[in-house]
Amino acid sequence: MDKLVIRGGTPLSGKVRVSGSKNGALPILFATLLAEDPVVLRNVPRLVDIRTTQRMLQELDVQITDEKDALKFVTPAEGTYTASYQLVRRMRASVSALGPLLARRGRARVSLPGGCAIGQRPIDLHLKGIRALGAEIQIRHGYVEATARQLRGTTIYLSGPFGSTVLGTANVMLAATRAKGVTVIDGAACEPEIVALAQFLRVLGVPIEGEGTHCLRIQGVDRVGGGEFTIPPDRIEAGTYVIAGAMAGGNVAVEACAPGHLRALIDVLQRAEVPLEIGEDFIHVHGTPAIRPVELATLPYPGFPTDLQAQLMALLCRANGVSLITEKVYPDRFMHVAELNRLGAQIRKEGSTAIILGGHRLSGADVMASDLRASACLVLAALIADGETEIHRIYHLDRGYVRMEEKLAGLGADIRREDDEEGV
Ligand code: EPZ
Repeated sequence: MDKLVIRGGTPLSGKVRVSGSKNGALPILFATLLAEDPVVLRNVPRLVDIRTTQRMLQELDVQITDEKDALKFVTPAEGTYTASYQLVRRMRASVSALGPLLARRGRARVSLPGGCAIGQRPIDLHLKGIRALGAEIQIRHGYVEATARQLRGTTIYLSGPFGSTVLGTANVMLAATRAKGVTVIDGAACEPEIVALAQFLRVLGVPIEGEGTHCLRIQGVDRVGGGEFTIPPDRIEAGTYVIAGAMAGGNVAVEACAPGHLRALIDVLQRAEVPLEIGEDFIHVHGTPAIRPVELATLPYPGFPTDLQAQLMALLCRANGVSLITEKVYPDRFMHVAELNRLGAQIRKEGSTAIILGGHRLSGADVMASDLRASACLVLAALIADGETEIHRIYHLDRGYVRMEEKLAGLGADIRREDDEEGV
């Protein structure tokens, strides 16, 4: 197991290039199960979660060829329909195999994902949507077992107690591609990752309307074809480097990103009086000694993304005053609070709100990464802490950030990856 060793205090400056979107790529990779002709995907980020998905697809008899700057997928109609616990437990997004397997092979058996560090993550809305299309679903021995001779289009209301569901929307969209007639998903997620999935499905010949709104309309087809598609940039990776620049810049240029997907972050940073220049595909951020405290809540898109909440909290440790963050998507997603406090932050949790008393100096310590975005938050905090910080269990980081230590070192950070001999 590896750890990151970071010596704080070096200002960041220079350019960093954003990779393809992890959360955009994952449902698109599962969508290749539907394709009757070859699919070529470009700008797929080379991450652990992507490799896990490739392995799972291969177990489902998809042939994958790595063509260096692209991945090619060929999927036979017949084949395995079981996604095993061994792979699903590593990555909850695997539940997205359910919709396309059922649509293509008439049958799907997908392990229920296990516990999760960011709180409860039920899949009831996924099942509600797929049942509404006419599937028979049973939960047996830790697996969701679904069958359907012919799925039928219908109108489905998919929003839940915390708003829309991203992967739930993706799963139902994928199942609906081969349903008879039209499916309308009301209360659909409108995240950029869902927009990308809709654009990809259109390339494969599935008529879809309404992506980017809360109402999607999918016309089922008899045959889903193939085609080529480029994965859009990762908005969370981009946002993480923008926050890093705000904390520890310098002058940082985040390039090859989509600023239009980051409006909520840009708004918060402008309220915090962080100097920004925004172009069509770049954001330049200038570090500033004076950050104003802010109040915000995470919300489904276009609200402030929960996947940037932890990183923003690290920034607000530097603000001149008290900031409040309320987590409305995953009310328990605060594992990073205790670790930030170990670095000298002063953060108190009241229910699903974190109260951040800014302006206390951080000092390096040993800390433990608990999930992907919490890990990124600790890396950012370590960049401004006095002395050395060791971040253990960074395998979480490798699930979602392409070569993060190399990208940060390219900006001048004093950061290195080492073998964690203590193995914690
Ligand atoms: C996606 O997860 C992302 N994962 C998450 O990113 C992200 O945090 C989340 O969306 C919210 O933006 C991928 O895209 C692979 P949801 P997803 O269903 O789709 C509740 C990261 O760090 N809910 O939109 O699984 C749920 O508990 C990861 O990259 C139900 O109640 O999230 C939550 O409160 C972590 N029933 C809310 O909806 C359901 O059936 C939103 O979750 C499904 C969800």
